[in-house]
Amino acid sequence: MGAEQQATAVRAATDTTVRAADTAVRAATDTAGAATAVAHPNIALIKYWGKRDERLILPRTDSLSMTLDIFPTTTRVRLAPDAGHDEVTLGGKPAEGDARQRIITFLDLVRELAGVGHPAVVDTENTVPTGAGLASSASGFAALALAAAAAYGLDLDVTALSRLARRGSGSASRSLFGDFVVWHAGRADGTDEEADLSSYAEPVPAGPLDPALVVAVVNAGPKDVSSRAAMRRTVDTSPLYEPWAVSSKDDLADMRLALGRGDLEAVGEIAERNALGMHATMLAARPAVRYLSPATLTVLDSVLRLRRDGVAAYATMDAGPNVKVLCRSADADRVADVVRGAAQGGAIHIARPGPGARLLNEDG
Ligand code: DP6
Repeated sequence: MGAEQQATAVRAATDTTVRAADTAVRAATDTAGAATAVAHPNIALIKYWGKRDERLILPRTDSLSMTLDIFPTTTRVRLAPDAGHDEVTLGGKPAEGDARQRIITFLDLVRELAGVGHPAVVDTENTVPTGAGLASSASGFAALALAAAAAYGLDLDVTALSRLARRGSGSASRSLFGDFVVWHAGRADGTDEEADLSSYAEPVPAGPLDPALVVAVVNAGPKDVSSRAAMRRTVDTSPLYEPWAVSSKDDLADMRLALGRGDLEAVGEIAERNALGMHATMLAARPAVRYLSPATLTVLDSVLRLRRDGVAAYATMDAGPNVKVLCRSADADRVADVVRGAAQGGAIHIARPGPGARLLNEDG
């Protein structure tokens, strides 16, 4: 396609509205070739830990998460046909290093799918502390996938958007949806295309749980080992990885049932054992990856105390020292007080189930 034809195609495509069928999100791009999207992080109750394909970001196991109503990421993508290269800012500052490269690689994928070569200007505002195991890449790539698809004129339904977000960061595939979400590992026995098509997220039905997630930020700084590097090392070297991957299948089946009947105690127990098992796989990696700090363990002790006192409270941790405590919404303030006492000055946030990613129109 020549430059002129390309420009015409972009104009035509971006004049159309973008469809995210299942959620009936419908928003016009705010100016020709520009769109803004917002997405929330999700916390896995059954973890994604380990890839079977690094390029396509295909996971070894299915995972299941709750989307939060806090820490949204807002991303604006604007095509810049006259610019020589992509311009990427995070929180108003030019993005650097790996963060910048991952965004540009993702834009290259969107450009390839759209058949449009223009560079873009990407502005991202994260309200979640970056790199602290609080899933900033999930909200980040979900918002980027939605905004970039719209700006480049891709007409994708929400399943295709979930697959696209997956290519930025696996957990981002789940942030397209609100509440409880499962991400299918997909077919491992076919072609790359079949594998890609079969690995996407979708909502999971849940009974009347009314849950809250109390987030204890014991350390908001960036981590020493990225989750990407840590999961690779775990798959390659940990003798505990395969047993965990096998038991995670049973955890997921049990979790679906527990969610369906709205059994918060069972949901919490399964989530806690799945997360502790994931951390065990890392501790057994060579060399070991240890995200859990003394402050993490102090918070875990406080969760045990809450349970001994009859409060349904269950912990989960991701690739970082911070602890997320699942409890009943009605107990959230009490749980937050106890956890605050244990978190040694760390910030405490109370999250509840949040919405899926959406495009914003000009007035927000
Ligand atoms: C521990 O989605 O950040 O939070 O696909 O390499 O970008 P990449 O990894 P990422 O990993 C998240 C791992 C986790 C568990 C989870 O969210 O399921």
